[in-house]
Amino acid sequence: MGIFSKKSQEPTLQTADRPVPQHIAIIMDGNGRWATRRGMPRYAGHAVGAETFRTIANYCKSIGVKYLTVYAFSTENWKRSQEEISAIMRLLGNYLREALQDMDKNRVRFVFFGDLSRLSDDLRELCELAQERSKTYEGVQVNFCLNYGGRDEILMAARSFARACMEGKANPEDLDAAQFSSCLYSAGVPDPELIIRPSGEIRTSNFLLWQSAYSEYVFTDVLWPDFTPEDLEKAIAEYNGRSRRFGGVKK
Ligand code: FPP
Repeated sequence: MGIFSKKSQEPTLQTADRPVPQHIAIIMDGNGRWATRRGMPRYAGHAVGAETFRTIANYCKSIGVKYLTVYAFSTENWKRSQEEISAIMRLLGNYLREALQDMDKNRVRFVFFGDLSRLSDDLRELCELAQERSKTYEGVQVNFCLNYGGRDEILMAARSFARACMEGKANPEDLDAAQFSSCLYSAGVPDPELIIRPSGEIRTSNFLLWQSAYSEYVFTDVLWPDFTPEDLEKAIAEYNGRSRRFGGVKK
């Protein structure tokens, strides 16, 4: 059985022949359409999407990705039906319960980006337990964005910096990008080199607004439940073909 996956997926390509981004972020989009096109309820798409997550997370680990950040539930997703919200939360809870059981074997580090206070007590406790129990693991780190929004994160960081200033622990004149980054949920995590959005939508949807300043985006029409390790490899190949200049000039 794979590290994350029930349907384990071995790498199909040699990884030694191309660089692998150390941090990949994914907007797991298209679950609803995948289900609707099959005459199924939307939550069925999320269930298959959760399986795709397991497969892709397992694959990322196998090729040496150090950080995988996934958009599991946004600050705007509360607008969905209670049935759909509950289904997503249930899938997350099931996943975390399983992960907790196999934690010492898999040694995956879990971190949660977002305001967990709005989650049910049960789910929040599972998140906190998974984060606490895996905090010393040094393999792949999975960052779950849960009740997460990029603007919300920036506001949260601004408030915490303002509080530090009021308490005399920080000085507004000294604030720079590095210090501000350390106030974000992603403190200590390098910015993602590659952000993938499946499902044909071409927008950022409030995902990692600060951290994506120089990320390379790859958009694909594949819906998330159909996304495979081969699609990930294509995205990595596209990323490797890009010229990253960070505002400078190519040498
Ligand atoms: C976006 O697709 C997807 C979400 C809002 C939820 C993503 C959640 C999961 C994949 C399950 C979480 C569980 C684990 C274990 C990761 P959409 O519903 O907006 O799709 P649509 O644009 O086709 O309607």
